[in-house]
Amino acid sequence: MPAELACFEKRCRARFAVTEVLYNCPKCGGLLEAVYGKPAQSAEELKALWRARRMSNGPLDQSGVWRYREFIPFLSDYRGVVTLREGNTPLLEARRAAGYGGLDGLAFKHQGFNPTGSFKDNGMTCGVAQALRLGMKRVACVSTGNTSASMAAYASAAGLQAVIFIPHGNIAYGKLAQALEYGARTLQVEANFDQILALVRQLAERIGIYLLNSINPFRIEGQKTIMLEMMEQRDWRVPDWVVLPGGNLGNTSAFGKALREMRDLGLIGRLTRLAVIQAEGAAPFYELLRAPDRSRLNAVEHPQTLATAIKIGDPVSWPKALCEVTSSGGVVEKVTEQEIADAKAVIGQCGIGCEPASAATLAGIRKLVAAGTMAHDADVVAVLTGNVLKDPDYIYRYHTGTLQAPNGTQIMPNYGNAPTVVPNDPGRIAALLDNTLK
Ligand code: F0G
Repeated sequence: MPAELACFEKRCRARFAVTEVLYNCPKCGGLLEAVYGKPAQSAEELKALWRARRMSNGPLDQSGVWRYREFIPFLSDYRGVVTLREGNTPLLEARRAAGYGGLDGLAFKHQGFNPTGSFKDNGMTCGVAQALRLGMKRVACVSTGNTSASMAAYASAAGLQAVIFIPHGNIAYGKLAQALEYGARTLQVEANFDQILALVRQLAERIGIYLLNSINPFRIEGQKTIMLEMMEQRDWRVPDWVVLPGGNLGNTSAFGKALREMRDLGLIGRLTRLAVIQAEGAAPFYELLRAPDRSRLNAVEHPQTLATAIKIGDPVSWPKALCEVTSSGGVVEKVTEQEIADAKAVIGQCGIGCEPASAATLAGIRKLVAAGTMAHDADVVAVLTGNVLKDPDYIYRYHTGTLQAPNGTQIMPNYGNAPTVVPNDPGRIAALLDNTLK
């Protein structure tokens, strides 16, 4: 069976050709997903094939996304694929972070090692491949920063024109800098992420652009490979928990789909529980899971958090994410600005580092372990979604005690490491270091 698009809504499940330009189901407005028949190979054959490709110098095989192409078979040929060798991200053990979280052990799957420094690259190589296949000339996205950085890079590499819509004054500098450097037409809109997304969905048809937000089902296909690569790195041992930050909830949807499909193909024997962590000031999904009526999400009109990547009040993929979290036996937690900031510094002290949104994972783990939801000896993987250098301003402010939460509260540098200004004097410097080493 060739790939198709299917409506995610159980009561609809309408099917469409994979080459139609659709973002929502034309029949019921539901979210869309890519669906496939079974691959020709058995689970064992697939595992052997994917492992063998690690020895290859072929560009597709060197990609941590396209190496697994049998798991995301939406293209009919691979000639148009543009790869920057995305994926291939490490699984890093972090003793100090485990201790901080209350766990015996913890591994980080660090998506910040991607070519543009975030997990968006896994999905973007797929979204851009689909844009090329459809004959698109222009692609666009609304972004809290990382999607735009990633889209700018992949679109330019593919010879497409990139148009980026970002909330003015509300994205980290590292990300804005990337969009400019990679040559995207960058529009800073005076509105928040949710408002701009609504605007751009209206504009998409009118000005002939292909939307590469995570509502695009092909981006979700690429992000599935984060879970696949993690399982392969663990020799297919299934962790008890995968912990990830939640913003627009595309990643939650992708991880859940990947885990279900891996189980259905016999690649793994059981599902992993998903723990989605939101920032307290932007936690509509957290509220949804506690609401008596889960049939609609109450958007947060003015989301607030210094973790700008997840400053989203009306996440589009919530119906998929709800299904994935509940079917995996998962949970949703929320954490404060102080908790995110401290957890981030602890991840830094492991020599690993990440951007603020990513650190919500460790802050969430600490809360879930303290509450008894997560056992101290559980086998846990937390996904760090973005690189430490995405938001250097936040880092400097935290360590120098000048970071303020959006409501004006001072963030305490509980794990702070402020630089010291010293005179050009070896004696005084030696004395200072002697004192601090004692
Ligand atoms: N972490 C980082 C670093 C992100 O950039 C994002 C989302 C998330 C987590 C949340 O992932 O939306 O799949 O739940 N950033 C998007 C952007 C919205 O525009 O770059 P999600």
